Amino acid sequence: MAKNTYKTVKGMRDFYPEIWTTQLWLSNIFLNTGRLFGYSEYEAPVLENINLYLDKSSQELLEKQTFIVNDRGGDRLVLRPELTPSLARLIVAQENELSFPLRWQSWGRFWRYEQPQRGRGREFFQWNIDLIGIDSPEADAEILTIAATVFQTLGISPSDVQIRLSDRQALQKYLSEKLSLDQNQYKTLLQAIDKIDKMDTKVFAEWLQDLGFSQKQISQLPSLLAKPPANFSPRLNTTLSLIPNDLKDFFTIDLKIVRGLDYYTGLVFEAWATTSTLKRALFGGGRYNNLTQQIGGQKNLPGVGFAIGDMAIFEFFKELNKLPSINSNPSSIFVTTFSPDTYQNSLDLVNFLRKNQVNATLNLDPNLKLGQQFKYASKNNFQYVIVLGPEEIDNNQVSLKNLDTGEQKLISPDQLLSLVS
Ligand code: HAM
Repeated sequence: MAKNTYKTVKGMRDFYPEIWTTQLWLSNIFLNTGRLFGYSEYEAPVLENINLYLDKSSQELLEKQTFIVNDRGGDRLVLRPELTPSLARLIVAQENELSFPLRWQSWGRFWRYEQPQRGRGREFFQWNIDLIGIDSPEADAEILTIAATVFQTLGISPSDVQIRLSDRQALQKYLSEKLSLDQNQYKTLLQAIDKIDKMDTKVFAEWLQDLGFSQKQISQLPSLLAKPPANFSPRLNTTLSLIPNDLKDFFTIDLKIVRGLDYYTGLVFEAWATTSTLKRALFGGGRYNNLTQQIGGQKNLPGVGFAIGDMAIFEFFKELNKLPSINSNPSSIFVTTFSPDTYQNSLDLVNFLRKNQVNATLNLDPNLKLGQQFKYASKNNFQYVIVLGPEEIDNNQVSLKNLDTGEQKLISPDQLLSLVS
């Protein structure tokens, strides 16, 4: 069998316990933030029919970035590249039963066939959080407040990260008027603006020329995007006025943020690290008012939300030196065995601890030397090591060593229990 058969598939990720524990820590921060605002958790299948995304998500995403699975019945399925179309499908299926507004969040795995690089992979996690059923600045402000709260909870300040936002509807009016664009030209320009930060200015201008824009339009564009007039989007101004004062500094209006996904209809936003060398958005989202109807819904159910991936934020955290080192061992107590004939006593003690909801680990090799057992305990980050020799057994005591302080004492099993529980 070829050697590669046993390697991780390119772009897929193995999570050893230390990394997985940090993943869980991060997902808990996300989900707890959602809970703070009253968002319920849900999940959707990882395989969806490709038609769910056609003409809604993004052509690039579908043509170049999906993992396609052909099922035996001939349907073209994809490993979900994002959650928003699935969310819309779930809502449409129960649109007459659900009570709106819905506040829903989800943590799960996604796949995109991209070139693996720093902060970007083919398999990644996203926290999605969405508010469905209200189209108002109040709803937009709630979602943006959640986004900034996550950063605040993670100890990230507005000098580290900026949430850049715009309004697609206002942008269409503004650019169409100023540059005399028709609907199709505007659509083409919007897709081009999404790439503006990734391209050299000259190359970008040449590209616009190839796309059929005039020299006048091309030369006017940079200044139009750089300085939006104060009344660019009264709705965006109202939204920002509803953000708590201590979070306001996280936000900047930036007309270069348009988002690559087709379903956005109004507010669009992305978070970008200000200091980092990372050329990736930390999260992205926006308002999508037509998606449920596009997939067959009868009701008008406007939505707003965003998704934050795990990979870019981890890279960013590493750069800021904020990645916590978390012990992946859930048990802090290692119960040694003194000799084969006292094995049962150690087993009884560990069972006593577990019955009382204390996580505890037992040495399973009755012949292993005590020194080796201590070595194992220290390598595996146990805080306490317990020795139960003949003398301790006779006196109904245990010897407890704290590996962090080196302190050692003789105590009863009940005292041990009150110490560690
Ligand atoms: P998106 O901008 O395509 O939006 O993805 C959101 C976030 O997912 C990105 O900012 C990034 O953190 C992460 N992400 C995306 N692709 C990758 C990748 N290949 N590797 C690592 N991380 C990645 C959406 O997915 C929308 N559905 C978000 C949304 C929810 N809009 C409304 N509600």
